[in-house]
Amino acid sequence: MKLILLGAPGAGKGTQATRLADIYQIPHISTGDIFRANLKEETELGLKAKAYMDQGLLVPDELTIDLVMDRLSKDDCKNGYILDGFPRTLAQASALDALVDIDAAVDVEVPDENIVRRMAGRRVCPKCGEPYHTEYKVPAKEGICDRCGSELIIRKDDEPETVLKRLTVYHDQTAPLIGHYQQAGKLVAVDGTKSVEAVTEEITKALDK
Ligand code: AP5
Ligand code: MG
Repeated sequence: MKLILLGAPGAGKGTQATRLADIYQIPHISTGDIFRANLKEETELGLKAKAYMDQGLLVPDELTIDLVMDRLSKDDCKNGYILDGFPRTLAQASALDALVDIDAAVDVEVPDENIVRRMAGRRVCPKCGEPYHTEYKVPAKEGICDRCGSELIIRKDDEPETVLKRLTVYHDQTAPLIGHYQQAGKLVAVDGTKSVEAVTEEITKALDK
């Protein structure tokens, strides 16, 4: 199964992607996580990406497209994958269209007002990328990742001002992809305001049809 997860920042793409990766036993590929891992390692790519990410802007297509195409050529992608946060521009979508025929693009729909509240309570694992929330997804041990035991952090781009910028960028550059995948007959829209479990159920029901 080759899946794309679309949705605004904070819609729950990462949350759903880890659950779907477990269910369908395929890798979860998050461009945001790849950039953050590079930043942590202080690679050239990480340092270049940081300037954009800190401002809530998209990393340029020329730094992003090749990176994903290379990742998709790895052995573990043979039986499919879940793309979280890619594509995010029409140019990225065209590059992907030229390479693969995806099964579905799932749009996790959440209104902007809910997004701002969600982001304020988000905590993430810097090691495995698993997202948590102070109210909606509390880890078993406070401040510690359930999956890998690392100490949770607040993402730098979750400051309210940067979140608003990311939302503007999303509406300008990424939301047009919804029409792109609808035209291709690949769009699956789900209500992302429901509970984490209910959203997963809505997605798997639609995909299993
Ligand atoms: P990225 O890391 O992809 O960030 P994003 O798209 O802004 O999305 P988030 O990770 O913030 O949110 P999410 O939808 O994964 O939500 P989550 O599951 O965490 O990208 C970061 C930056 O990298 C970009 O700004 C850009 O600069 C760059 N970048 C990345 N990809 C790029 C690309 N392709 N091209 C160019 N640049 C790129 O959930 C949010 C919170 O809500 C959590 O606390 C969670 O616990 C909670 N939550 C989730 N679901 C629910 C629910 N159903 N009910 C209640 N709470 C919930
Ligand atoms: Mg994410």
